[in-house]
Amino acid sequence: MEIAVSGSTGLIGSELVRILRAKGHKVRRLVRSENELGTENILWHTRQGIRDLHRLEGIDAVVNLAGASIAAGRWTARREKGIYESRVEGTRLLVDRIGRLQKRPGVFVSASAIGYYGDRGDELLDETSSPGEGFLSELAQAWESEASRARDKGMRLVCTRFGIVLARSGGALAKMLPVFRLGLGGKLGGGKQWMSWIALSDLVQAIVHVLEKAELQGPVNVVAPAPVQMELFSKVLGKVLRRPVLLPVPGVALKILMGQMANELLLSSQRVMPRELERTGFQFTHPELEGALSEILKPPAY
Ligand SMILES: NC(=O)c1ccc[n+]([C@@H]2O[C@H](COP(=O)([O-])OP(=O)(O)OC[C@H]3O[C@@H](n4cnc5c(N)ncnc54)[C@H](OP(=O)(O)O)[C@@H]3O)[C@@H](O)[C@H]2O)c1
Repeated sequence: MEIAVSGSTGLIGSELVRILRAKGHKVRRLVRSENELGTENILWHTRQGIRDLHRLEGIDAVVNLAGASIAAGRWTARREKGIYESRVEGTRLLVDRIGRLQKRPGVFVSASAIGYYGDRGDELLDETSSPGEGFLSELAQAWESEASRARDKGMRLVCTRFGIVLARSGGALAKMLPVFRLGLGGKLGGGKQWMSWIALSDLVQAIVHVLEKAELQGPVNVVAPAPVQMELFSKVLGKVLRRPVLLPVPGVALKILMGQMANELLLSSQRVMPRELERTGFQFTHPELEGALSEILKPPAY
Protein backbone atom coordinates (compact mmCIF):
# COMPACT_ATOMS: atom_id res chain seq x y z
CA MET A 1 0.00 0.00 0.00
CA GLU A 2 0.96 3.64 -0.33
CA ILE A 3 0.20 5.34 2.99
CA ALA A 4 0.34 9.02 4.00
CA VAL A 5 1.18 9.60 7.67
CA SER A 6 0.83 12.88 9.60
CA GLY A 7 2.61 13.31 12.95
CA SER A 8 5.22 10.89 11.64
CA THR A 9 8.09 12.15 13.80
CA GLY A 10 6.23 11.42 17.05
CA LEU A 11 6.47 8.47 19.43
CA ILE A 12 3.84 6.48 17.55
CA GLY A 13 4.45 7.88 14.07
CA SER A 14 8.16 7.13 13.92
CA GLU A 15 7.65 3.49 14.96
CA LEU A 16 4.68 3.13 12.61
CA VAL A 17 6.68 4.44 9.64
CA ARG A 18 9.52 2.03 10.47
CA ILE A 19 7.20 -0.97 10.64
CA LEU A 20 5.18 -0.03 7.53
CA ARG A 21 8.39 0.33 5.51
CA ALA A 22 9.72 -2.96 6.89
CA LYS A 23 6.50 -4.59 5.64
CA GLY A 24 7.14 -3.23 2.16
CA HIS A 25 4.58 -0.41 2.15
CA LYS A 26 5.42 2.95 0.63
CA VAL A 27 5.11 5.75 3.19
CA ARG A 28 4.55 9.39 2.34
CA ARG A 29 5.25 11.47 5.42
CA LEU A 30 3.18 14.64 5.75
CA VAL A 31 5.78 17.03 7.17
CA ARG A 32 5.43 20.54 8.55
CA SER A 33 8.88 21.87 7.78
CA GLU A 34 10.64 22.48 4.46
CA ASN A 35 13.77 21.00 6.06
CA GLU A 36 12.05 17.63 6.18
CA LEU A 37 11.00 17.67 2.54
CA GLY A 38 12.48 14.74 0.67
CA THR A 39 11.36 13.17 -2.58
CA GLU A 40 8.64 11.13 -0.85
CA ASN A 41 7.48 13.65 1.77
CA ILE A 42 4.75 16.22 1.34
CA LEU A 43 4.48 19.59 3.07
CA TRP A 44 1.34 20.46 5.01
CA HIS A 45 0.24 22.92 7.64
CA THR A 46 -2.89 22.71 9.79
CA ARG A 47 -4.04 26.13 8.51
CA GLN A 48 -2.36 26.60 5.14
CA GLY A 49 -3.14 23.29 3.49
CA ILE A 50 -1.18 20.62 1.64
CA ARG A 51 1.41 21.72 -0.92
CA ASP A 52 1.38 19.65 -4.13
CA LEU A 53 -1.79 17.85 -3.11
CA HIS A 54 -1.87 16.07 -6.48
CA ARG A 55 1.11 13.98 -5.34
CA LEU A 56 -1.31 12.19 -2.98
CA GLU A 57 -3.51 11.15 -5.92
CA GLY A 58 -4.04 7.38 -5.80
CA ILE A 59 -2.69 6.72 -2.27
CA ASP A 60 -4.37 3.82 -0.50
CA ALA A 61 -4.56 5.07 3.08
CA VAL A 62 -4.03 7.97 5.48
CA VAL A 63 -2.95 7.65 9.10
CA ASN A 64 -3.49 10.93 10.94
CA LEU A 65 -1.47 11.14 14.17
CA ALA A 66 -0.65 14.86 14.36
CA GLY A 67 -1.24 16.92 17.47
CA ALA A 68 0.59 19.25 19.85
CA SER A 69 1.80 17.42 22.96
CA ILE A 70 -0.80 17.01 25.72
CA ALA A 71 1.61 16.32 28.57
CA ALA A 72 4.32 18.89 27.83
CA GLY A 73 3.20 21.38 30.46
CA ARG A 74 0.40 22.88 32.51
CA TRP A 75 -2.80 23.38 30.53
CA THR A 76 -2.98 27.14 30.19
CA ALA A 77 -5.75 28.53 27.99
CA ARG A 78 -3.14 29.04 25.27
CA ARG A 79 -1.86 25.46 25.46
CA GLU A 80 -5.40 24.07 25.44
CA LYS A 81 -6.06 26.09 22.28
CA GLY A 82 -2.93 24.69 20.63
CA ILE A 83 -3.76 21.12 21.67
CA TYR A 84 -7.30 21.52 20.33
CA GLU A 85 -6.55 23.35 17.09
CA SER A 86 -3.67 21.11 16.06
CA ARG A 87 -6.00 18.10 16.23
CA VAL A 88 -9.46 19.40 15.33
CA GLU A 89 -8.45 21.94 12.66
CA GLY A 90 -5.61 19.73 11.45
CA THR A 91 -8.00 16.81 10.93
CA ARG A 92 -10.57 19.08 9.26
CA LEU A 93 -7.96 20.30 6.82
CA LEU A 94 -6.67 16.82 5.99
CA VAL A 95 -10.17 15.45 5.42
CA ASP A 96 -11.11 18.46 3.24
CA ARG A 97 -8.01 18.38 1.10
CA ILE A 98 -7.81 14.62 0.72
CA GLY A 99 -11.53 14.60 -0.04
CA ARG A 100 -10.74 16.77 -3.11
CA LEU A 101 -8.57 14.09 -4.71
CA GLN A 102 -9.91 12.40 -7.83
CA LYS A 103 -8.72 9.01 -6.57
CA ARG A 104 -9.28 9.09 -2.81
CA PRO A 105 -7.73 6.65 -0.36
CA GLY A 106 -9.90 3.72 0.67
CA VAL A 107 -9.25 4.20 4.37
CA PHE A 108 -8.64 7.13 6.72
CA VAL A 109 -7.32 6.19 10.16
CA SER A 110 -7.47 9.05 12.62
CA ALA A 111 -5.97 9.06 16.10
CA SER A 112 -8.21 9.59 19.08
CA ALA A 113 -7.81 8.72 22.74
CA ILE A 114 -9.56 6.85 25.53
CA GLY A 115 -9.89 10.28 27.15
CA TYR A 116 -13.13 10.21 25.09
CA TYR A 117 -14.74 8.25 27.95
CA GLY A 118 -13.89 10.77 30.71
CA ASP A 119 -13.51 9.64 34.35
CA ARG A 120 -15.59 6.43 34.74
CA GLY A 121 -14.51 4.62 37.94
CA ASP A 122 -14.82 0.81 37.67
CA GLU A 123 -17.20 0.80 34.69
CA LEU A 124 -16.15 -1.53 31.86
CA LEU A 125 -15.99 0.56 28.70
CA ASP A 126 -16.11 -0.52 25.08
CA GLU A 127 -16.60 1.27 21.78
CA THR A 128 -20.35 1.53 22.38
CA SER A 129 -19.96 3.38 25.70
CA SER A 130 -21.09 6.98 25.91
CA PRO A 131 -18.58 9.85 25.96
CA GLY A 132 -17.60 11.47 29.25
CA GLU A 133 -16.91 15.01 30.39
CA GLY A 134 -13.88 17.29 30.63
CA PHE A 135 -11.36 18.84 28.28
CA LEU A 136 -9.90 15.57 26.94
CA SER A 137 -13.30 14.04 26.32
CA GLU A 138 -14.58 17.12 24.51
CA LEU A 139 -11.35 17.21 22.51
CA ALA A 140 -11.70 13.56 21.45
CA GLN A 141 -15.35 14.06 20.52
CA ALA A 142 -14.58 17.11 18.35
CA TRP A 143 -11.55 15.36 16.82
CA GLU A 144 -13.59 12.26 15.90
CA SER A 145 -16.42 14.39 14.60
CA GLU A 146 -14.05 16.15 12.14
CA ALA A 147 -12.56 12.79 11.13
CA SER A 148 -16.02 11.32 10.56
CA ARG A 149 -16.48 13.60 7.52
CA ALA A 150 -14.03 11.29 5.73
CA ARG A 151 -16.90 8.79 5.60
CA ASP A 152 -19.07 11.31 3.73
CA LYS A 153 -16.28 11.54 1.17
CA GLY A 154 -16.37 7.81 0.54
CA MET A 155 -13.47 6.69 2.71
CA ARG A 156 -13.61 3.93 5.33
CA LEU A 157 -13.04 5.80 8.60
CA VAL A 158 -11.51 4.33 11.75
CA CYS A 159 -10.91 6.43 14.87
CA THR A 160 -8.27 4.61 16.92
CA ARG A 161 -8.86 5.45 20.59
CA PHE A 162 -5.36 4.92 21.96
CA GLY A 163 -4.78 4.03 25.60
CA ILE A 164 -1.65 5.01 27.56
CA VAL A 165 1.19 4.03 25.24
CA LEU A 166 4.06 2.25 26.97
CA ALA A 167 7.48 2.72 25.39
CA ARG A 168 10.99 3.11 26.66
CA SER A 169 11.70 6.15 24.53
CA GLY A 170 8.76 8.43 25.26
CA GLY A 171 5.27 8.98 26.60
CA ALA A 172 4.06 8.37 30.16
CA LEU A 173 6.44 5.52 31.03
CA ALA A 174 9.57 7.43 30.04
CA LYS A 175 8.43 10.24 32.36
CA MET A 176 7.94 7.82 35.28
CA LEU A 177 11.16 5.85 34.87
CA PRO A 178 13.70 8.23 36.44
CA VAL A 179 11.65 8.52 39.65
CA PHE A 180 10.99 4.77 39.88
CA ARG A 181 14.64 3.96 39.15
CA LEU A 182 15.63 6.08 42.15
CA GLY A 183 13.27 4.01 44.28
CA LEU A 184 11.06 7.07 44.76
CA GLY A 185 8.12 5.86 42.69
CA GLY A 186 4.68 5.21 44.03
CA LYS A 187 1.02 5.22 43.20
CA LEU A 188 -0.46 8.53 42.15
CA GLY A 189 -3.51 9.71 44.03
CA GLY A 190 -5.74 7.06 45.61
CA GLY A 191 -4.33 4.34 43.34
CA LYS A 192 -7.75 2.86 42.51
CA GLN A 193 -8.02 4.60 39.13
CA TRP A 194 -7.87 2.23 36.13
CA MET A 195 -5.09 2.61 33.60
CA SER A 196 -5.77 1.25 30.15
CA TRP A 197 -2.33 0.82 28.64
CA ILE A 198 -0.84 -0.69 25.48
CA ALA A 199 2.72 -1.55 24.47
CA LEU A 200 3.91 0.61 21.56
CA SER A 201 4.75 -2.48 19.49
CA ASP A 202 1.18 -3.81 19.86
CA LEU A 203 -0.29 -0.39 19.11
CA VAL A 204 1.60 -0.16 15.84
CA GLN A 205 0.51 -3.69 14.86
CA ALA A 206 -3.07 -2.68 15.75
CA ILE A 207 -2.84 0.23 13.27
CA VAL A 208 -1.62 -2.20 10.60
CA HIS A 209 -4.54 -4.53 11.49
CA VAL A 210 -7.01 -1.64 11.17
CA LEU A 211 -5.55 -0.71 7.76
CA GLU A 212 -5.91 -4.27 6.53
CA LYS A 213 -9.31 -5.28 8.00
CA ALA A 214 -11.88 -3.83 5.63
CA GLU A 215 -14.72 -4.72 8.02
CA LEU A 216 -13.43 -2.34 10.73
CA GLN A 217 -14.90 1.12 10.84
CA GLY A 218 -15.85 3.71 13.44
CA PRO A 219 -14.19 3.83 16.86
CA VAL A 220 -11.67 1.14 17.78
CA ASN A 221 -10.18 0.98 21.27
CA VAL A 222 -6.45 0.39 21.04
CA VAL A 223 -5.66 -0.88 24.55
CA ALA A 224 -4.38 -4.17 25.97
CA PRO A 225 -7.11 -6.52 27.20
CA ALA A 226 -5.92 -6.30 30.84
CA PRO A 227 -6.17 -2.77 32.22
CA VAL A 228 -4.86 -2.37 35.79
CA GLN A 229 -5.45 -0.02 38.68
CA MET A 230 -2.75 2.57 39.30
CA GLU A 231 -1.55 0.94 42.55
CA LEU A 232 -0.94 -2.36 40.74
CA PHE A 233 0.75 -0.56 37.86
CA SER A 234 3.22 1.05 40.32
CA LYS A 235 3.87 -2.29 42.05
CA VAL A 236 4.52 -4.10 38.77
CA LEU A 237 6.79 -1.32 37.50
CA GLY A 238 8.76 -1.43 40.79
CA LYS A 239 9.02 -5.21 40.53
CA VAL A 240 10.26 -5.17 36.94
CA LEU A 241 12.82 -2.46 37.82
CA ARG A 242 13.67 -4.23 41.11
CA ARG A 243 13.09 -1.03 43.04
CA PRO A 244 10.95 -0.40 46.11
CA VAL A 245 7.63 1.34 45.61
CA LEU A 246 7.08 3.29 48.76
CA LEU A 247 5.89 6.81 48.38
CA PRO A 248 2.34 7.48 47.27
CA VAL A 249 2.00 10.88 45.63
CA PRO A 250 -1.15 12.52 46.99
CA GLY A 251 -3.68 13.66 44.41
CA VAL A 252 -3.82 17.10 45.99
CA ALA A 253 -0.07 17.62 45.41
CA LEU A 254 -0.47 16.61 41.77
CA LYS A 255 -3.35 19.02 41.35
CA ILE A 256 -1.27 21.87 42.82
CA LEU A 257 1.65 21.01 40.55
CA MET A 258 -0.20 20.24 37.35
CA GLY A 259 -3.69 21.71 37.67
CA GLN A 260 -6.51 20.19 35.60
CA MET A 261 -4.03 18.04 33.69
CA ALA A 262 -3.47 15.97 36.87
CA ASN A 263 -7.20 15.29 37.19
CA GLU A 264 -7.71 14.23 33.61
CA LEU A 265 -4.43 12.49 32.78
CA LEU A 266 -3.27 10.93 36.04
CA LEU A 267 -6.19 10.67 38.44
CA SER A 268 -9.08 9.85 36.13
CA SER A 269 -10.15 6.24 35.71
CA GLN A 270 -10.80 4.46 32.40
CA ARG A 271 -11.23 0.68 32.30
CA VAL A 272 -11.35 0.15 28.57
CA MET A 273 -11.68 -3.11 26.61
CA PRO A 274 -10.43 -3.66 23.04
CA ARG A 275 -13.71 -5.26 21.86
CA GLU A 276 -13.37 -4.40 18.17
CA LEU A 277 -9.75 -5.55 17.95
CA GLU A 278 -10.67 -8.83 19.67
CA ARG A 279 -13.78 -9.31 17.52
CA THR A 280 -11.67 -9.03 14.38
CA GLY A 281 -9.01 -11.48 15.60
CA PHE A 282 -6.17 -9.15 16.63
CA GLN A 283 -3.48 -11.03 18.59
CA PHE A 284 -1.69 -9.05 21.29
CA THR A 285 1.99 -9.85 21.77
CA HIS A 286 1.85 -8.21 25.22
CA PRO A 287 -1.61 -8.74 26.72
CA GLU A 288 -0.36 -8.57 30.36
CA LEU A 289 1.39 -5.66 32.05
CA GLU A 290 4.32 -7.48 33.66
CA GLY A 291 5.35 -9.19 30.42
CA ALA A 292 4.97 -5.93 28.51
CA LEU A 293 7.08 -3.92 30.95
CA SER A 294 9.74 -6.64 31.18
CA GLU A 295 10.10 -6.63 27.40
CA ILE A 296 10.04 -2.83 27.04
CA LEU A 297 12.57 -2.31 29.83
CA LYS A 298 14.99 -5.11 29.12
CA PRO A 299 18.49 -3.83 28.33
CA PRO A 300 18.97 -3.25 24.61
CA ALA A 301 20.97 -5.91 22.77
CA TYR A 302 24.11 -4.68 21.00
N1 LIG B 1 1.26 8.52 23.41
C1 LIG B 1 0.11 8.27 24.03
O1 LIG B 1 0.09 7.69 25.16
C2 LIG B 1 -1.20 8.64 23.37
C3 LIG B 1 -2.39 8.23 24.00
C4 LIG B 1 -3.60 8.56 23.41
C5 LIG B 1 -3.62 9.29 22.23
N2 LIG B 1 -2.45 9.67 21.64
C6 LIG B 1 -2.54 10.47 20.40
O2 LIG B 1 -1.89 9.83 19.33
C7 LIG B 1 -1.25 10.80 18.50
C8 LIG B 1 0.21 10.45 18.36
O3 LIG B 1 0.75 10.34 19.67
P1 LIG B 1 2.31 10.43 19.97
O4 LIG B 1 2.50 9.88 21.33
O5 LIG B 1 3.08 9.87 18.83
O6 LIG B 1 2.50 12.00 20.02
P2 LIG B 1 3.83 12.87 19.86
O7 LIG B 1 5.04 12.04 20.11
O8 LIG B 1 3.63 14.10 20.67
O9 LIG B 1 3.81 13.21 18.31
C9 LIG B 1 2.80 13.96 17.72
C10 LIG B 1 3.31 14.53 16.40
O10 LIG B 1 2.36 15.50 15.96
C11 LIG B 1 3.03 16.53 15.24
N3 LIG B 1 2.75 17.82 15.87
C12 LIG B 1 3.31 18.37 16.99
N4 LIG B 1 2.81 19.59 17.23
C13 LIG B 1 1.94 19.84 16.23
C14 LIG B 1 1.12 20.95 15.90
N5 LIG B 1 1.09 22.05 16.67
N6 LIG B 1 0.34 20.86 14.79
C15 LIG B 1 0.35 19.74 14.02
N7 LIG B 1 1.11 18.67 14.27
C16 LIG B 1 1.89 18.73 15.37
C17 LIG B 1 4.53 16.21 15.30
O11 LIG B 1 4.88 15.48 14.13
P3 LIG B 1 5.52 16.19 12.82
O12 LIG B 1 6.59 17.10 13.34
O13 LIG B 1 6.02 15.02 12.04
O14 LIG B 1 4.42 16.94 12.15
C18 LIG B 1 4.64 15.27 16.50
O15 LIG B 1 5.75 14.44 16.39
C19 LIG B 1 -1.45 12.17 19.15
O16 LIG B 1 -2.44 12.87 18.48
C20 LIG B 1 -1.86 11.82 20.56
O17 LIG B 1 -2.76 12.75 21.13
C21 LIG B 1 -1.25 9.35 22.17
